[in-house]
Amino acid sequence: MIKHWEFFLAPYKQAVEELKIKLKGMRSEYELESVHSPIEFVTGRVKPIASILDKANKKGIPLNELETQMQDIAGLRMMCQFVEDIYTVVDLLRKRNDLEIIEERDYIADKKVSGYRSYHVVICYPVQTVSGEKKILAEIQIRTLAMNFWATVEHSLNYKYSGNIPEDIKRRLQRAAEAAFLLDEEMSQIRFEIKEAQAVFSRKNEVDGD
Ligand code: GTP
Ligand code: MG
Repeated sequence: MIKHWEFFLAPYKQAVEELKIKLKGMRSEYELESVHSPIEFVTGRVKPIASILDKANKKGIPLNELETQMQDIAGLRMMCQFVEDIYTVVDLLRKRNDLEIIEERDYIADKKVSGYRSYHVVICYPVQTVSGEKKILAEIQIRTLAMNFWATVEHSLNYKYSGNIPEDIKRRLQRAAEAAFLLDEEMSQIRFEIKEAQAVFSRKNEVDGD
């Protein structure tokens, strides 16, 4: 049984490792050019067997349909400084030839009642195995550092309370989500100010001729 899982999860593990390298590589390219990178950092994981079973059970997914019905066995996260960067990253993903986007969910435009915000992209990714090509599904969550901070804390609390967070804490989390949203807004504004200042500076330099 355990051996069976190892075989089943092998291509997902391969995909997560490959995608981590590829997505981190996008950041390196910006670094090389010394321009602002829309990607701050990248993480990835294969869903633990216990979580796969738990989710399959909750959602009524038969185990022989995991490949098509569970989109996040392979999961990647891309963290950005600014909300605008998220859409830049999504565009970068759309342009790639090594993966196919099959679904997009914008929980930034439509935040969840919990207060959760992120941009989800489900991809189909081909893994080369010794017995040929195997296409797997993977979920890429793209979010700001503030969104990530909130989601990480909320996830821990969900774990602590087994998914039944007390009402008063839920309300606090919603307020914290609002604060994270405002932080993102302020940061976007500052980003705009910086760009504006740089534009003025370069215009001034042109006039001054230095
Ligand atoms: P799942 O059954 O969780 O896959 O729900 P779904 O199929 O509707 O997918 P969804 O787009 O909601 O994304 C699921 C993933 O997003 C989860 O595995 C989490 O990583 C993340 N997520 C979604 N909602 C929340 C939330 O309220 N809080 C936190 N912390 N993470 C969330
Ligand atoms: Mg899902």
